[in-house]
Amino acid sequence: MNREQISRIAHADHPIKSPLDDASVGRLLNRSLSRGDARVLDLGCGTGEWLLRALATRPHLLAEGVDISGGALEDARRAANDRGVADRLVLHHREADGFVSAQPFDLVLSVGSSHAFGGLLPTLAAARRHLAPGGRVLIGEGFWSRTPSPEAVEMLGDFADLATTVDRVVADGWTPIHGHVSTRHELDEYEWACWGSLASWALDHPEDPNGKEALSMATIRRTEWLRVYRETWGFLSLVLRRTPREWQDLGCY
Ligand SMILES: C[S@@+](CC[C@H](N)C(=O)[O-])C[C@H]1O[C@@H](n2cnc3c(N)ncnc32)[C@H](O)[C@@H]1O
Repeated sequence: MNREQISRIAHADHPIKSPLDDASVGRLLNRSLSRGDARVLDLGCGTGEWLLRALATRPHLLAEGVDISGGALEDARRAANDRGVADRLVLHHREADGFVSAQPFDLVLSVGSSHAFGGLLPTLAAARRHLAPGGRVLIGEGFWSRTPSPEAVEMLGDFADLATTVDRVVADGWTPIHGHVSTRHELDEYEWACWGSLASWALDHPEDPNGKEALSMATIRRTEWLRVYRETWGFLSLVLRRTPREWQDLGCY
């Protein structure tokens, strides 16, 4: 099975590919979107679920998404048609890092996609290049809630602790105007949804040549979560505005 097939099955019951429940997603969008006719860009949009929800509730919003996964973008396109918002959504099948747009955006989103840019600060630098004056950024990023094992770092990447993560963002010239730390329930719900959906699909398709591989993958990934990173990995979402340069220079931060 390829990554796209696995991801499509694993996220069937959790279309937001990050450990956030529907209420948190709605709240983060509300805090991020200061106007109903905003232009919104999602870097690493996956199946476009953030954009689709924003478009469905704000009839004057315009959205663009960028992702390297052709399969995820096809799903996004299909869902946009089903939800009647396709005329206000543009999808770009390409590397997020090299994406350029003639017009800036009022909101730049990048949730769970910082690996596309090589980390949190390069993601914020990319977001900044696309941001209209006064615009906002909604970023979602992992952090270590306790000291991780070397195996966890190897598996998930080189994150910082929560306070250091926020300090780095602030030192980079951003002011958080809202934040959300995923709850234990959201973190668990996400992992159970992914690996449970994959396992369930395997059991529903005993004759499928991919069935055995899917069950084995679900078992491995569930075990890695429970044994390697469940106790140490957290997820932070931040809504950011630029800090005025003269206030950055005052050393307030
Ligand atoms: C964890 S998913 C998050 C998707 C979406 N932001 C969400 O929260 O539902 C990460 C996404 O980043 C995309 N991605 C990874 N590397 C990328 C790159 N270099 N350029 C664009 N997208 C990339 C993947 O295809 C995937 O859709």
